[in-house]
Amino acid sequence: MIQTLEVALGERSYPIHIGCDLFSRADLLLPYINRRKVVVLSNTTVAPLYLGMLRSTLEKAGIAVLPIVLPDGEAYKTLASLNKIFDALLGAHCERNTTLIALGGGVIGDMGGFAAACYQRGMPFIQVPTTLLAMVDSSVGGKTAVNHPLGKNMIGAFYQPKLVLADIASLDTLPDRELRAGLAEVIKYGLIRDPEFFAWLEINLENLLARDRGALAYAVHRSCANKAAVVAADERETGERALLNLGHTFGHAIETGLGYGEWLHGEAVAAGTMIACELSRSLGWLTQDQLLRIKALFVRGGLPVAGPKLGAQRYLELMRHDKKVQDGRLRLVLQKGIGSAELSDVASDAQIACAIDNACT
Ligand code: NAD
Ligand code: GLY
Repeated sequence: MIQTLEVALGERSYPIHIGCDLFSRADLLLPYINRRKVVVLSNTTVAPLYLGMLRSTLEKAGIAVLPIVLPDGEAYKTLASLNKIFDALLGAHCERNTTLIALGGGVIGDMGGFAAACYQRGMPFIQVPTTLLAMVDSSVGGKTAVNHPLGKNMIGAFYQPKLVLADIASLDTLPDRELRAGLAEVIKYGLIRDPEFFAWLEINLENLLARDRGALAYAVHRSCANKAAVVAADERETGERALLNLGHTFGHAIETGLGYGEWLHGEAVAAGTMIACELSRSLGWLTQDQLLRIKALFVRGGLPVAGPKLGAQRYLELMRHDKKVQDGRLRLVLQKGIGSAELSDVASDAQIACAIDNACT
């Protein structure tokens, strides 16, 4: 069974299809391919697993496939990799209307989207996410970027895909650590706006870890429904969309501070969320019981609940590059109970430093 959601953005609206064995479904892809050639961007891990299936489906439908296969890893989410993509697109005479399919996790999706936004000022692109994190977050909403040595995702563009195709069966091959990292972004939706989903996760977390396809499909669908609603209301992050960054300001500091790829993005977000929750507790926005309930869910998910000891001043220095900084003042997503969050600049540097010290061991 396929479930379909829509990201409602007027003429740039697009569907998200969620189901199993979707790579054989030419009928879902062909409406978004308007040339006899497509580009499939992937990496050295995902391409051997799934590029063949997708390629055979497209070739049977008379579409030639140009594969671009990059090295795997967050460390390659760079302008240098982007240039390699442009070299391949130009070398193969791809046109402005050639469709680019990003097949992989968030790294490939973010880079593929940014390349598509830039190539000849914009080519159509399709997200085919193959990690839980990419299915529930990065493939939806049109944020695309590469990293800079001074900060995560600092060079990028808003550029929406034409289609998102989430094949739950592709999660079968995902390493356990990556599955757990994806859960951090799933839990995020429960925390910031969907308390019933948080309660569902408390009951069903082990089913997700056991890769029960029904549970995974439900979690992906519910997460995407939450994300689609937020993006439809605030595509360019002038308000509500910032809440999707719960834990990310601290998390990005962890990723940049330790070196890209050392901690997985979802792991850094989990620890970052616990720092944000500790700060929320110290401000009286979250009770100790709620803090412990949140912590317990991350622990059951096998995720880190304490940040690395980089030192509070180093965290603050790294966090100053955050895209939510306004007039030099840090704005952080803080929890107001479970199921509600707020972007706020009430916390002083001293209060933030204290929360970091308490939540990093
Ligand atoms: P990733 O893309 O690095 O994928 C994780 C690992 O799993 C990689 O080694 C990958 O090759 C492998 N893999 C992918 N699919 C697989 C499969 N089905 N079977 C086996 N192995 C598979 O990491 P990610 O967690 O998917 O994404 C993290 C990235 O997403 C970060 O760069 C982060 O900044 C970005 N992100 C972007 C947004 C957004 O809104 N654009 C949101 C959240 C995260
Ligand atoms: N991942 C945060 C956002 O899409 O806004």
